[in-house]
This record gives sequence, structure tokens and C-alpha cells, in this order.
Amino acid sequence: MLGSALMRHFTNQDVIGFGSELNITNSLLLASTLNEIKPNIIIHTAAYTDVDGCETNLDKAYAINTIGTQNLVNYCIDKDVLFVYISSTGIYGTSKTDAYTEFSPINPTTVHHKSKYEGEKVVQNHLQKYLILRTGWLYGGDKTLSKNFVYKRFLEASSKDTVYSDNTQIGNPTYVVDFVKQLQLLIENQQYGIFNCVNNAIGISRYDYVKKIVELFDLNCDVKIAPDEMFKRIAPVSHNESAINYKLHLLDLNIMGDWEKSLATYIRQLRDEA
Ligand SMILES: NC(=O)c1ccc[n+]([C@@H]2O[C@H](COP(=O)([O-])OP(=O)(O)OC[C@H]3O[C@@H](n4cnc5c(N)ncnc54)[C@H](OP(=O)(O)O)[C@@H]3O)[C@@H](O)[C@H]2O)c1
Repeated sequence: MLGSALMRHFTNQDVIGFGSELNITNSLLLASTLNEIKPNIIIHTAAYTDVDGCETNLDKAYAINTIGTQNLVNYCIDKDVLFVYISSTGIYGTSKTDAYTEFSPINPTTVHHKSKYEGEKVVQNHLQKYLILRTGWLYGGDKTLSKNFVYKRFLEASSKDTVYSDNTQIGNPTYVVDFVKQLQLLIENQQYGIFNCVNNAIGISRYDYVKKIVELFDLNCDVKIAPDEMFKRIAPVSHNESAINYKLHLLDLNIMGDWEKSLATYIRQLRDEA
């Protein structure tokens, strides 16, 4: 999802994109490919993103999210390459009940977020010229994407009178188009280090998010809070994945919009395509 958004955004630049045919766990393939391309910037968007799947496939989670990152980082050591790692606000885990800043304690609760955080540490321990962007609840891109949360909710709410949604977790619905623009601004401003990078949203649950999706599509469907047992997860996810872009604010570089405005923009685009 994010990789495609980046490719759509940077059309005027000299950008090469890869899918999973460039397997990041294959260190030899990776090294030979990168040695041939000699990139100035690597934006690493590959990950094993199935949070529940990571709980039962621990080796796969660490092999892709941590060792795969190490393989990419190895190429950058001692080279003048900017490395961009996409992390998650989920790595803050349960350390607070309100929105996390970059200075909040880190306490990941799931294998997925632990493996992503280990990936962060690899970047921080070996490189100087890096950006680590912690984001969450990304949406956007093509309708056909299997992970298109917004379009899936549209399809569900179009065919039902009532849909149920979880009210127990808060986070920041974040539009990939806003994210790539923010990333471009950081690169242009030669910023390095760790940044939260989410759309502005305070105390927003999945239930609020789904309600807004249904409203913006003008659907005649009731959105109800799901009973506890309805969305049981394998992964012990934190109830709080919400964050603010504190460092972007301090640097006066925060261009991430309000979540409702960005969601409206994306849904307008989906409706225009229909
Ligand atoms: N989506 C979110 O809400 C969210 C939140 C926080 C952080 N992030 C981070 O944002 C980044 C982009 O996520 P996304 O939402 O765009 O996820 P996505 O749509 O699942 O994309 C992940 C990509 O990684 C590829 N991949 C998996 N294993 C690979 C391997 N061994 N070698 C090379 N490529 C591999 C997948 O290819 P296949 O499909 O072919 O397997 C897929 O194209 C990830 O780092 C993710 O952790 C996402």
C-alpha cells in the first residue's frame, strides 16, 4: 500500500520500486541488486504486516521485519545513503493512555511491534543518516488492494443494514498520500532521526473511523459498537496506538492534515472513480 503510493507520488524523480520479488531476507540478492543500482536514498516499506500472523509465525516476523531490515542497513553502512525506515506507533505499546510523542517510553506488546522495534534499533545502531517514521492505521491506494480498510468497509456497509466495529482501541487513521508528502518535506529539509508521522486525531477509535467512512459514503447503514467477543485478536494489541507528531510540530514542519479531512478527500476520490 505505502510502496505503491510512493511510486505514484515520485513520478518525476529517478525512482525504482520493487515488490516482494526482491526478497529482503535474501542478503546476497539484495546486496547484488543494490550494488548495481547504487541508490542515494532507500525507502524501506517491506514488512510482514499481519499482526495476528506474527504471533504464530515468530521466525517469519523477525526474519522479515528485523533481519530483512538489517540486510538493507548493511548495504548503507559507510555509504552516503539516506535510509528511511517505516515503523509503527504500535511500538509504544501500553506505556501511556493518551497520545504518544517521540519521547514516550517504548513498550511493544505484540511480536509484530517487537520485531518492528528491533528493526528500528538496527537502523539506529548502525547508521547516522536515517529517518524512522512511526505511523499507524494507514489507508489509501487502489480499491483492489487486499488491505484496503476503507473500501472494504464501504462494501460491507453497502450490503448490510448494520455493521459492528471495535470501540476499544484508539489510533490515527492516516492517509498514505499525506504520509508521502510529509516524507518528501523531511527529505528536502535534510531532517534525520525519529518522527511520529500520523494524521491529526485525538481519541479516535475504530468505531469512530468506521462511522465516519459510512457517513462520507452517504450509506444508509447503522454502525454499532461490537460486543467484546466479536473481534477477538490473537495478538495482545495495545488499546492505545494514538500519537501526535510532536517533533514535526516543534520543527514547524507538520503538514499532516486532520484525519476527517483527509478521509473525506480519499473517499471523494473513490466515489469519483465509481
Ligand atoms: N498499514 C498500516 O497501518 C501500518 C501502520 C504502521 C506501520 N506500517 C508500516 O508501513 C510499511 C508499509 O506498510 P503497508 O501498509 O504498505 O503494508 P503492505 O501493503 O502489507 O506492504 C508490505 C509489502 O512488503 C512486502 N514484503 C513482505 N515480505 C517481504 C520480503 N521478505 N521481501 C520483500 N518484500 C516483502 C509485501 O509483499 P507481498 O504482498 O508480496 O507479500 C508487501 O508488498 C511497513 O513497514 C509497515 O510495517 C504500516
